Parts: sequence; C-alpha cells; structure tokens
Amino acid sequence: MGLRKLVAGNWKMHGLSSDLDEVRTIAAAARDYPGVDVALCVPAILIERAARAVSGFAIGGQDVHQAEKGAHTGCTSALMLLDAGASLTIVGHSERRDAQRESDEQVKAKAEAALSVGLVVILCVGESLEVRESGRAVETVRSQLDGSLPETPNGEAELAIAYEPIWAIGTGKIPTMGEIAEMHASIRRTVVKRYGSPGAGMRILYGGSVKASNAAEIFAIADVDGALVGGASLKAADFMPIVAAAAASLP
Ligand code: 13P
Repeated sequence: MGLRKLVAGNWKMHGLSSDLDEVRTIAAAARDYPGVDVALCVPAILIERAARAVSGFAIGGQDVHQAEKGAHTGCTSALMLLDAGASLTIVGHSERRDAQRESDEQVKAKAEAALSVGLVVILCVGESLEVRESGRAVETVRSQLDGSLPETPNGEAELAIAYEPIWAIGTGKIPTMGEIAEMHASIRRTVVKRYGSPGAGMRILYGGSVKASNAAEIFAIADVDGALVGGASLKAADFMPIVAAAAASLP
C-alpha cells in the first residue's frame, strides 16, 4: 500500500514580499490535488506573511534551534515557527550540516524540539559524491539516521525523512532509479527497526534535482513517498507538474 505523498518545496534563501503572489498561486493550484500533501518551506522572515496569505496551506521553516529560548542570536525556536504560522520544518539539510557544521546530535535535538511543539519534521540525510563513489552511501546514511532520528517521533505523520544526495542538489544529476530504490528501502528498514510499525507509515522523500521531467519516474519507485524540491519549487509553473506527477502516481 502506498503512503499519501508529500511534496514540499524548499525555497532556501529565496523569497521576498514580491514572491507572496507565487505562494498564493501554488497554494491555489494545490487545491486541485487533494490526494497530495503540498507544503512550502520559506525563509523564516517570510513565514508569517506567507501563512497569512494562504490559510489552510502548509507553510514551513527550513531550520529550527534546539533550545526553547535563550541567548542564541539570530536563531529561531520551534515555538517561534509555530507562532508565525508554520506547521512543519526541515531539519538537518546538508547545506546546514555543511556550512553551519551541524552534527547528527544537533539535528536530533532540533527534530525533538520541533516535534515537541507539534510541528511536522522533515529530517534530511544524504551522502557526498566521494562517499557514493566509494560504495559507502547506504551505510553512511544509516549512520546519519542512527545519530539524528528523534527518540519519540510522535506519530507516523509527524516525521518524514528526506534522502538528498548532496551531489544531486542543484546539479541536475540524480542517482539511478536503482540507487534511489536501494537507499529508500534501507531507510525504511532503519525506521521500522527503530520505531516499529509507525516506521512503516513514515514518509520517505527523495530530494535533489527533482523536476517535472523526472518526477513521475522517481515517484514510481517503492518507498518514495514524495519529494523535497529546491529550485523547481520557486515557480508554480515548475512546481505544480511535480505535484501533478505525485497525484498521478497514486494507486
Ligand atoms: P534542488 O531541487 O534545487 O536540487 O534542491 C534540492 C534540495 O536541496 C531541497 O532541499
């Protein structure tokens, strides 16, 4: 049985007030696909305006601090995200693991902080090109999961895993369908081992150069329960065909 698909856009450091119209367009178009969960993770400063612009549509953050509050200049707490109108957040994106030197331990604490206030979490994992070429991709991702999965995931709908090979992000390159299938099957085994039966209901998203042209093929793979989309989520014209492909892949 396939899980309900989740297609989330990660706007990264893109988005000004002038882009709220694009958020509105995407939210309105998403209503045509009631069988797919669609969300946009926008820059923190845009969350409140985006959430106000599109009531009933899921707006998310791209990161969260693990502490409840305190002396953490420039950071955003889980409660702040929620208060601004977010219903989900990404944690552990490779751009943060790399540029902000976030460890598995920190990513786990961030996931737990977000879940504790009721946010849905998309937890990212993925290997570098060097690791892929050395044949250690599956074990590396398993070790990232072992270190960063939250202790209590709340429920199966509250935690999604995004497999994003670093070398596929923004490059136009993607793994072979066999490589995606192998990795998603391994992630499924890991979450089922960790959480028992709720692990079977957690969505595993693929991310990295997802486009209208490859989405259908990717969504047809077992244990691909959606996508985390970067560049192609910035414009409705690029994003909605991906959502449509997710809808078309439903049984
Ligand atoms: P692209 O879709 O631009 O490759 O980005 C993927 C990503 O990093 C989503 O979080």
